[in-house]
Amino acid sequence: MFLLVNLKTYESGTGADAIEVAEAAARVSEETGARIAVAPQAVDLRDVAKRCEAFGQHVDSVEYGSNTGASLAEAAAHAGAGGTLVNHSERRVRLHDLAGAVDAAHRAGLEALVCANNAEQCAAAAALEPDYVAVEPPELIGTGTPVSQADPDIVRDTVERVGDVAEVPVLCGAGISSGDDVDAAADLGAEGVLVASGVVKADDPEEAMRDLVT
Ligand code: G3P
Repeated sequence: MFLLVNLKTYESGTGADAIEVAEAAARVSEETGARIAVAPQAVDLRDVAKRCEAFGQHVDSVEYGSNTGASLAEAAAHAGAGGTLVNHSERRVRLHDLAGAVDAAHRAGLEALVCANNAEQCAAAAALEPDYVAVEPPELIGTGTPVSQADPDIVRDTVERVGDVAEVPVLCGAGISSGDDVDAAADLGAEGVLVASGVVKADDPEEAMRDLVT
């Protein structure tokens, strides 16, 4: 199972420390053999990528040039990221821009992980041939109520509908915080999970990651 820890804006200031989470992720990955990537804010990508597998939280559908405030895929790759989220429910993009962002990620050599709200949107996203799609019902994000146990049908349906479109691995996320939640996701056909609050708000983020992958 692939565990992607999305730090959102929980890091810096009073939240989780990106470097500590990255170092803990590397230790847990080394110890368990599980693939664990950390998605920090853009300014911390380079530091995180020196310590563990790193993903961007977002890239824009832009190329090198005059695009103030945009996130260039090549810049994320240059900082050491191996992949990027696109279209997270907290960073939605229009369909046209979604296709462009997936292309931009691939142009830069990044894996593209497209998030969507439901099975239909995931199937549409799969047609863009990203490396992963992830179903995350927005109403469960940050609640501690795990999608894999509270709404198993959405994960099952996503795996089925995406499978009808393309061979793209399906991940799921929202409310996941324990190894049991991850096992439930795997039983439904998910090949990985996205977790934020279950790690960054845990008393011991390293132990939380260990529990998720073992
Ligand atoms: O990208 C991960 C995500 O949106 C899930 O958030 O806090 O429910 O684990 P959380």
